[in-house]
Amino acid sequence: MKIISIVGARPEFIQAAPITRAIQDRPDYQEILVHTGQHYDYLMSQAFFDELGIPVPDYNLGVGSGRHGQQTAAMLAQLECLFLAESPDLVMVRGDTNSTIAAVLAAAKLGILTAHVEAGERSYDRRMPEEINRVVADAISDIHLCASRTSVARLAEEGITRAVHWVGDVMYDAMLQHLPVARHKSDVLNRLGLVANRYVLVTIHRAANTDDPARLATFVECLNRAGEPVVFPIHPRTRQALQRMNAQFAHHVIATAPMSYFDMVVLEENARLIATDSGGVQREAYFLSRPCITLREETEWTETVEAGWNLLVGADPEKIESAWRTFKPSAAHPSIFGDGCAASAIVDAIEHEYGSSYQLKAVQPQMDCRYEPR
Ligand code: UD1
Ligand code: UDP
Repeated sequence: MKIISIVGARPEFIQAAPITRAIQDRPDYQEILVHTGQHYDYLMSQAFFDELGIPVPDYNLGVGSGRHGQQTAAMLAQLECLFLAESPDLVMVRGDTNSTIAAVLAAAKLGILTAHVEAGERSYDRRMPEEINRVVADAISDIHLCASRTSVARLAEEGITRAVHWVGDVMYDAMLQHLPVARHKSDVLNRLGLVANRYVLVTIHRAANTDDPARLATFVECLNRAGEPVVFPIHPRTRQALQRMNAQFAHHVIATAPMSYFDMVVLEENARLIATDSGGVQREAYFLSRPCITLREETEWTETVEAGWNLLVGADPEKIESAWRTFKPSAAHPSIFGDGCAASAIVDAIEHEYGSSYQLKAVQPQMDCRYEPR
């Protein structure tokens, strides 16, 4: 079985690590790793390959940043040629990025079997580009690999019931596999002069939060008013937005470059509180039993809210400040995201679907398309 795995953005690299390992465990499976180049700064890309031992991608499309249409189109054109040249049995995509949608679209139109990891996530807010990517990816992919039971139910509500598998969250696999090493290797607390349980970790990168100067200014004011150390690793999109508004931070706010994964999970594990708009960070807060406040009005990860460990506070300064001071998670911590074996469950699910009557569609014969690896 020849699988082309697509990665392009930070959370996709983290998810790639356990999946690549699970594929390598099957002698009859071959993985071709394709990096679209959506993220490219060292701390947004290569740092994860180095730390997590992800193989060097077989292809890097080097698309870089751009408007949604421009970026997605650049990936789509190259991926179509690449798929024709490689004739994979299956294309695997993850989550909801522009890399995801470009790959699933290119593959589906060529009649190549597609598997979508993190299927069935919804915010039900179509103003969010990621929501469009998810809905389309779920509508046209063949195998749906869900992180939680709620995502299975959401797909069923949309009439998607065939080849839907609850496998658990591969981000949890990554956490279990790497946390012991991260604890050993990361010196981030010392480096930043932090004491465990005496700081708040903040991440903000959603377009809805960064591209609205009034919203972003509210977050900056809330961080500046906090009476305790705040660590704020800044995503490049956010850095640019903060520079545009000439944002200034109080001394207790440690505004840094993006963290490596090891530093990030150690910061998460030791934080008194996590405030974020990241899907991955909300779940990691839950894995690590850290209280989380989410700087959005809705979340795809509703189970963490229902369990009482995540509170939606949006950009309302009163809600943020009150939750910051008083939020206490509930005592119960149900298992929502599986047992940390999602990656091998993903490969099992693919094996099951591939081997069943739900067979491959034929790949179109190669036309005048040549693809040279970069
Ligand atoms: C993307 C995903 C989002 C995911 C996030 C993970 C889409 C539509 N969104 O959002 O779902 O949560 O990745 O972090 O795909 N930039 C750099 N260096 C880089 C990468 C980006 O400077 O290495 C800057 C560029 O100015 C770029 C901006 O960040 O325009 C946004 O990057 P982009 O990949 O378009 O979207 P993200 O906000 O990262
Ligand atoms: N992350 C990281 N360094 C950072 C911020 C996040 O390693 O400075 C990790 C985080 O631990 C999680 C993943 O990146 O594993 C989440 O990615 P991101 O927040 O960019 O995207 P999302 O999950 O919202 O799609």
